[in-house]
Amino acid sequence: MVEDRPEMSEFDSVDPAPPSSDSDVSSLRITICDEDEKMFQRMRALFALRNIGGDDSIDALAAAFSSNSALLKHEIAYVMGQMQDSHAIPYLTERLRDMDEDVMVRHEAAEALGAIGDRIALGVLEEFKDDRDIVVAESCEVALDLLEWVSSKRLNYSE
Ligand SMILES: [Fe+2]
Repeated sequence: MVEDRPEMSEFDSVDPAPPSSDSDVSSLRITICDEDEKMFQRMRALFALRNIGGDDSIDALAAAFSSNSALLKHEIAYVMGQMQDSHAIPYLTERLRDMDEDVMVRHEAAEALGAIGDRIALGVLEEFKDDRDIVVAESCEVALDLLEWVSSKRLNYSE
């Protein structure tokens, strides 16, 4: 039974690491950006920042996009999609546009732009839907459909 599983987050996902109990955004930012810290601890900071939410948490997550770890950057993009906060859009757009970025990160940035459901991301997703990297191209295609679906659901709710 799902409700008995303590590792389930409020985002209905089973996360690869439990969130850190630290609730201070600046110290979580230091942890997630620390290239010498263990990946498990950086992931714990990542999920804590996701759970806290808000502009400062997103800025802290985005600061760790300067990491060398494609795995961590992929996870950052993923949680930004879960947070469904338009504040993350410029950061995700920058990752998708960076042709030197790891394909795993670009693909997840595209999907997150779809998950946020803000139509402002339509342009950049259209721009890369024929990307030379098929994984990125397919992610943009899925994201465009997801974006339409998320934003139409929002319209229905507000009616
Ligand atoms: Fe992915």
